[in-house]
Amino acid sequence: MQNIDSYIKEHKQRFIDELIELLKIPSISADSAYKKDVLNTADAIKESLENAGCDHVEICETEGYPIVYGEKIIDKSLPTVLVYGHYDVQPPDPLDLWNSPPFDPIIQKTELHPEGAIFARGACDDKGQMYMHVKALEYMTKNNELPCNVKFMIEGEEEVGSENLGVFVANNRENLKNDVILISDTGMIAKDVPSITTGLRGLSYVEVEVTGPNRDLHSGLYGGAVANPINVLAKMIASLHDENNHITIPGFYDKVENLSEAERAEMAKAPFSLEAYKKALDIDAVYGEEGYTTNERNSIRPTLDVNGIWGGYTGEGAKTVIASKAYAKISMRLVPHQDWEEITELFKTHFESIAPKGVKVKVTPHHGGQGYVTPIDSIGYQAASKAYEQTFGKTPIPQRSGGSIPIVSLFEQELKSKTILMGFGLDSDAIHSPNEHFGIWNYLKGIETIPWFYKYFTELKK
Ligand code: BES
Ligand code: MN
Ligand code: MN
Repeated sequence: MQNIDSYIKEHKQRFIDELIELLKIPSISADSAYKKDVLNTADAIKESLENAGCDHVEICETEGYPIVYGEKIIDKSLPTVLVYGHYDVQPPDPLDLWNSPPFDPIIQKTELHPEGAIFARGACDDKGQMYMHVKALEYMTKNNELPCNVKFMIEGEEEVGSENLGVFVANNRENLKNDVILISDTGMIAKDVPSITTGLRGLSYVEVEVTGPNRDLHSGLYGGAVANPINVLAKMIASLHDENNHITIPGFYDKVENLSEAERAEMAKAPFSLEAYKKALDIDAVYGEEGYTTNERNSIRPTLDVNGIWGGYTGEGAKTVIASKAYAKISMRLVPHQDWEEITELFKTHFESIAPKGVKVKVTPHHGGQGYVTPIDSIGYQAASKAYEQTFGKTPIPQRSGGSIPIVSLFEQELKSKTILMGFGLDSDAIHSPNEHFGIWNYLKGIETIPWFYKYFTELKK
């Protein structure tokens, strides 16, 4: 891997330009209006894998968006790394909060990215991070440095629940056989504080509908005499947390893994500034479950959050009306041992039971998935750790993340292999938000670090 630095220097501009081209395609999986674009992105990924040196690349059709599969098998007796990533992106809304169009990438400097960052939807989550692997493969194949076999599996439905990928993996266990799964779809603590993600939270996502009277009513003529679904929904949602911000759903915490004091003390060693955290978000205080620190609240503890709420009149001016219906979308982030389907059931039963007379409640489950934790004594973790030491000059810190990649626990179940999460994004990169960006330094550092993982993994596996 000795000339990786010079290879990156030489090809830096092209690496950036290629990513920018990919970011121009609005591959929004949630919105069917973008179907053609999502499909075109799959084609673009296929081509990039071919150019990077895969001997066999295939677009695998599913009932939804296709999975791009690529491989380079150099010797069946050598280990195999399976790279996973996603080419779909979140909707860019709200558009008016973007400083530049989300699918017209631009490079701009920021305080944390003095070398410049690419601003576009998907820049960090996950096109930019996925593409680091394509470029790392290019380096290894063009320089005869690929030490083992590699398989790529890049899907187009991660942001909508990966349902068809689950089916694909279960049907292709043999083809997908590997020794370790490698993913860059998470973050790191800071540019000078490398970290490896060792945990992801599970997820249960539901939609609720509260129906009162059979039609919208005059809020003067009927107000006070019938249940207002919006008032009721607000009250029901408020009751889901108690005064200590514990979730009140019976049984919700039954299976939650409790970390030992020693484990919590270890976690608390990771560098973190509460002042900087508050400043970055423009808040005067943090908020959350009593008895836990901010880093615990957003990683090892389960949560319940309203993601959207609507009903009644929201247009310009005022309209005096009691709406017939009110709605909310609610996500619950789960920790190891909580089963997402069980939690969804607990939520449904509880939410229906707290509805007052005079309204009807409907709970519709969306998607979900289990959480994941990976041990730090595996060969995969050790190889990743050595790779970071090589390129950052520091041992990375293991850190559990609050985000979810539900398919990871399914990989373990179906393919029986561990996943290593080498993320290069920063929390401030605004994934899922307006002005998402990915630092050029981070992008290139990822390309530089990944080949070392291959080298150390192959060596340690022998
Ligand atoms: N890449 C993210 C997950 C992530 C980001 C994990 C940062 C850890 C750190 C992924 O694309 C994502 O957004 N996942 C969704 C869940 C999915 C089922 C829609 C999430 O976490 O909300
Ligand atoms: Mn992602
Ligand atoms: Mn995402």
